[in-house]
Amino acid sequence: MDGNYTHLPVLLEETTQLLITDKSGIYIDATLGLGGHAIKMLAILDDKAKVIGVDWDPEMAALAAKNLEPYGTRAKVIQGNFANIDEILKREDLAGVTGILFDLGISSLHFDKPSRGFSLKHEGPLDMRINPGNPLTAYSIINHWPYEQIEHLIRVCGERHSNKIARAIVDKRSAKPMETTAELRDLIERVVPFRGEKIHPATKTFLALRVAVNYEFDNLTRGIQKAMPFLTKGARMGIITFHSLEDRIVKETFKIMADMGEWKMVTRKPIIPSEAEVTLNKRARSAKLRVIEKA
Ligand SMILES: C[S@@+](CC[C@H](N)C(=O)[O-])C[C@H]1O[C@@H](n2cnc3c(N)ncnc32)[C@H](O)[C@@H]1O
Repeated sequence: MDGNYTHLPVLLEETTQLLITDKSGIYIDATLGLGGHAIKMLAILDDKAKVIGVDWDPEMAALAAKNLEPYGTRAKVIQGNFANIDEILKREDLAGVTGILFDLGISSLHFDKPSRGFSLKHEGPLDMRINPGNPLTAYSIINHWPYEQIEHLIRVCGERHSNKIARAIVDKRSAKPMETTAELRDLIERVVPFRGEKIHPATKTFLALRVAVNYEFDNLTRGIQKAMPFLTKGARMGIITFHSLEDRIVKETFKIMADMGEWKMVTRKPIIPSEAEVTLNKRARSAKLRVIEKA
């Protein structure tokens, strides 16, 4: 399945409309993916504007670079972790930016490519690294973390049956290490039977593993903090989240920023996709966009 991958950008119109305040500005797409949002921004912006796209996944950054080739020097792709956005922007000699977008999580490519180990549907290795150069994998968590740590991880990510699932993992691995996503999924299906709920019984465990493998909450908090000083007066930060834990971090951080007096909320309530968008793209159903502006 290494063919052509696609990813439908979520809340595309809403995001670009709220993020772009100056058509000649410098914009950062901190989660470039295949470039969907960046390309839309470039279509709206004028010739003096620039979009700098960052992605932690080297494979994704290479694909995005190809997609952005037609935009020449108006677009630049950088492979890196947005948690280090300050270093990235300093290397680019950028002291001020007009807008920054974080479209969190992973791309459809990650789900669709079994070898990356994110998918519930396709069998793959227990990997789940956004950047395959990182040391921590889902395999190391599943096969080496103690029961208590696994149970805690999946419980804080909302899994009600964390006890049963963590116990089953520890029992299973005592005979032989667990190797694949399908082994883990099938094990969870056995201990938490699927009774036609909206989501598969292994969904929250898979999410918890991905979040831990990629330090997602830590990256998000650092990314926001490190980007803040680079936004010029009137510049905006937009963040699209896909689950309540992420959204809580953004909501609370934006509230603290607004309370500091230097920022003002652009979206009092999060923007959510229309029914039409959700019908077209199931992935969009849990998306929430929040935007804040430097006053
Ligand atoms: C939801 S996708 C973005 C899709 C993109 N907006 C588009 O329209 O194609 C999220 C992207 O962020 C990247 N990513 C996740 N964590 C990151 C991090 N800490 N630093 C930089 N990129 C990250 C993932 O590799 C993935 O490509």
